[in-house]
Amino acid sequence: MSHSGADMWMPSESDDPEYDQDQLDEIERLEADARAQLAPKPKRLAHSLSVARTAEHMALLYGVDPFLARCAGILHDWDKVVPHEELIRRAQSLGIDMGVDLHLVEPLLHGKVAALELADLYPELDPAVFQAIDRHTTGASDMTPLDEVVFVADGIEPLRKASEGIERTRSLVGREPLDDVYWESFWGGMVYVIQTGRYLWPGTLSVYNDLAAARNGARR
Ligand SMILES: [Fe+2]
Ligand SMILES: [Fe+2]
Repeated sequence: MSHSGADMWMPSESDDPEYDQDQLDEIERLEADARAQLAPKPKRLAHSLSVARTAEHMALLYGVDPFLARCAGILHDWDKVVPHEELIRRAQSLGIDMGVDLHLVEPLLHGKVAALELADLYPELDPAVFQAIDRHTTGASDMTPLDEVVFVADGIEPLRKASEGIERTRSLVGREPLDDVYWESFWGGMVYVIQTGRYLWPGTLSVYNDLAAARNGARR
């Protein structure tokens, strides 16, 4: 492992995985497509590429497929350029049901809409990539390691301004089990929603309770 000290969470050039030519071609294609799709929002593009590198790095640390993590990272915010009303319309027409008025949960929709749209655009990609994209905004109580890596990478990538919660999650990467890093990142995100007075989707509270019950059960 090339990382030590306080920066274990941070991706670096030295941990480039050995991809075959097909994988390198796919990454190049996805990055070019993301550059075009996210061109109106250069910061979002930079964030996406940074999430991709961070997820790839975390995948290497935790024995997850780094290629799938990289692809999911590149594409995860694909629909962040879609205007809010248009995104809600698309979610409705795709049959996305959040159990509440979709206007209340608009910030959560881009992952779910993108997962469905991207599966049509990139049928060659492993469906696990689209599940990770779907879950990057909401989390879930039955996250796969790939889902967890993408979720956490989205929250801690180096371009994100440090906050107490983000720093705490970063400090756990590579030191604590992936489930624990995800848990920290998940409740940190939930606390942020509450602290800033935003609407908390009831599904988020359900995931929190499922995770808390499972963790408390495991500790008993
Ligand atoms: Fe996102
Ligand atoms: Fe993101």
